[in-house]
Amino acid sequence: MSALAVSHVYPLRSRLNERGRLELGGCDVVELAAEFGTPAYVYAEDDMRARARTFVEAFRARSERFEVIYASKAFPCTAAYRLFAEEGLSADVASGGELHLALAAGMDPKRLYMHGNNKSPAELDYAIESGIGHIVVDSFDEIERLRGRSQRVMLRVTPGIEPSTHSYIQTGQVDSKFGFPMAEVPRALEECAAAGLELRGLHAHIGSQILDVEVFEKLGELLSAMGEFPLLNLGGGLGIAYTPEDRPPSVEDYVEALLRHVPDGVTVLCEPGRALVGNAGVTLYTVGTVKRIPDVRTYVSVDGGMSDNLRPMLYGARYEAEIADRFGGNEVCTIAGMHCESGDVLVRDVALNDPRVGDILVIPATGAYGHAMANNYNAKPRPPVIFCRDGEARVVVRRETYEDLTLRDC
Ligand code: LLP
Repeated sequence: MSALAVSHVYPLRSRLNERGRLELGGCDVVELAAEFGTPAYVYAEDDMRARARTFVEAFRARSERFEVIYASKAFPCTAAYRLFAEEGLSADVASGGELHLALAAGMDPKRLYMHGNNKSPAELDYAIESGIGHIVVDSFDEIERLRGRSQRVMLRVTPGIEPSTHSYIQTGQVDSKFGFPMAEVPRALEECAAAGLELRGLHAHIGSQILDVEVFEKLGELLSAMGEFPLLNLGGGLGIAYTPEDRPPSVEDYVEALLRHVPDGVTVLCEPGRALVGNAGVTLYTVGTVKRIPDVRTYVSVDGGMSDNLRPMLYGARYEAEIADRFGGNEVCTIAGMHCESGDVLVRDVALNDPRVGDILVIPATGAYGHAMANNYNAKPRPPVIFCRDGEARVVVRRETYEDLTLRDC
């Protein structure tokens, strides 16, 4: 069989190799599963680098003043911070833990932004003592907490824009726990000045997995009208393809929309998370049981589930799946996890090619918010993270062990 291209939900330059097996970053995923075990998160390093460059180039073609910030919550792992720093990106952190990871990766603290609607005094101290570049101030209480610290800050605002995405991941609406409503911005600016903070600009993040760029244009227009600031951070949120039918906007169109109404002289910051890492990663599983209930449904159960990918259960997120060495097929199956809940279903009604016990099953587009939201439900050790490049695979986060599960017990 000659090499075949696979759909755009897989990492860039993935293909089916001569043996009909999925290959990404030059590595055969069936061989990876044999070497590293399953479940496993596998990333094509070049995909992440290429996407970072696409963002940078899209800005560079249109503006001299910009900063691309990796929204690290999508995939908080030191290898990812390092990779994006090498590509010239800054990073945002949403907790002391993410700050710790970014610093452990060797990131320049000046290139970090800290977010959060309830940063604790200890987290703020940690950030300031680490020399963090900017803190994105979220509330009047936080301004109080920062009083007297001559810290560079931005102000998070909720512009009243509601993109069409899952309500759990909408954040720009007025009824939000995040940020200042527009009407409160003048008072917040005064309070920041009175507290001795160095205000550098406004920040807004209106939501995630957004597939319509017009809302970003509106956001740029709204924030630009709020006054003259050196920096405007227009957040993240650009959506990706989870299934072959999904056609997200191009990065160029997204950047064009962000910049359309922002005056020259303002530095525009954006914070992609999902769009940098989502399609770079796939999850590999092993099929353990195939239960065919005549005239009802076929359950294909795998050795992971809601502990390594919460998104189907949390947001009803839809994924694609294939048997790693037999793409195609037309047997409609439901891919179930191994957890003790009926709702632990990764993909409902997906066509597979004659699934059998022992097959390696691949779910693509799990690079964002998979590892990030992994948990130990049913005391399931979390999967490793493997980076692939030019046919070489390396473990960047090892698999959790049973010993790890008792490590914190006193
Ligand atoms: N900036 C801020 C302030 C954010 O809160 C977020 C995401 C981002 C940037 C990055 O958004 P992205 O480009 O990745 O859409 N767990 C959910 C997503 C929650 C996103 C929260 N904030 C999911 O799995 O879909």
